[in-house]
Amino acid sequence: MLSISGAELVLWLHVLAACVWIGGQVVVAILIPVLRGHGQLASLAGQRYQAVAWPAFGVLLVTGIINVGNAGLQWSHLLDSPAGRTLVVKLGLVALSGLAAGVHACLQAPGVRADSARRPWTSALLGSASLVTAVLAALYGVAIASA
Ligand code: HEM
Repeated sequence: MLSISGAELVLWLHVLAACVWIGGQVVVAILIPVLRGHGQLASLAGQRYQAVAWPAFGVLLVTGIINVGNAGLQWSHLLDSPAGRTLVVKLGLVALSGLAAGVHACLQAPGVRADSARRPWTSALLGSASLVTAVLAALYGVAIASA
């Protein structure tokens, strides 16, 4: 039987957290249109997702930083290798994913919500942007891991 190293455990946590961040967004995107029109259900579902999504995003950041060292990359020389340059692009995508989700969450906060409900396209756009950028970040992560 193969033994499991610390680096593999961290990568495993990283992939699990990516599943929660991306998979949760997919599930919420599918459910919200059905839940709208049922009182507070859509809003409650969004809040429940956020309770697990942000801890998962935190795990992605922490394990991602550890992955960088485990993948043999150096922060001071990121632009010197194809894998390092791929990581730079990936980090931009991660930042966009977190930013879009954060603004989206702020627009759904009590008080702001009633106003933003009049602009459902803003929420759809921000949610889609967060999901697409996270999916691309995962693709670049796979590329780095395979390099
Ligand atoms: C939305 C956030 C993120 C997602 C969805 C994501 C997703 C992934 C996925 C799916 C992999 C591939 C794992 C494999 O194929 O074994 C990966 C690898 C990797 N990720 Fe992320 N990641 C995110 C954030 C980050 C951050 C913030 C960093 C750095 C600070 C990072 C650094 C890395 C590195 C260096 C690898 C390659 C690991 C290796 O070669 O062993 N990731 N990521």
